[in-house]
Amino acid sequence: MKIMIQLHDKQFVPFISAQEIDFAIAKMASLIEDDFGDETPLFIGVLNGSFMVVSDFMKHYKKPCELSFIKMASYEGTASTNEVKLLIGLDQDLTGRTVIIIEDIVDTGNTLVALKELFKKQNLKHLKIATLFLKPEAYKKEIKIDYVGIRIPNKFIVGFGLDYDGLGRNLSEIYQLRE
Ligand code: IMP
Ligand code: MG
Repeated sequence: MKIMIQLHDKQFVPFISAQEIDFAIAKMASLIEDDFGDETPLFIGVLNGSFMVVSDFMKHYKKPCELSFIKMASYEGTASTNEVKLLIGLDQDLTGRTVIIIEDIVDTGNTLVALKELFKKQNLKHLKIATLFLKPEAYKKEIKIDYVGIRIPNKFIVGFGLDYDGLGRNLSEIYQLRE
């Protein structure tokens, strides 16, 4: 891990190692396997941020499952906006399915609210939420988050799919904004 990296105008320092990330993802996969391994869950990754989490999660999940993606966006720079846009939606019938949303990070929860709304009219069997990272101090919504990988302080992070204005997604570790 580099001691410090620069993305646009900001500097970031190491925060969470690749090994810790992998451990947390493996644990989520194993818990979900225990809970839903006798069904064929449909995992839905939320683009862009979740692409690395989903990829590693799928490698750890050993039972039958399906995968799809949707694309949402709410962040501008290092701050969440209240408006969440659906940029790419779902194209299949989800009646009777167990759907498990895979998020990179839950911050304010605005994206989760929009996601819940999106699935409300579909007749799902279960809708569960899994997220690699959660910022408990920022999260103010009522929606239950079923699987949490790692809880982090209310700090802006990049790496492992997460970006600062487009940069940093390709880092295999998590870096945090230098104070
Ligand atoms: P929320 O709607 O405020 O919960 O934010 C959800 C989305 O904002 C996440 O899926 C990320 O794409 C992005 N996001 C939230 N916190 C961070 C962060 O610390 N770094 C980079 N992106 C973040
Ligand atoms: Mg996201």
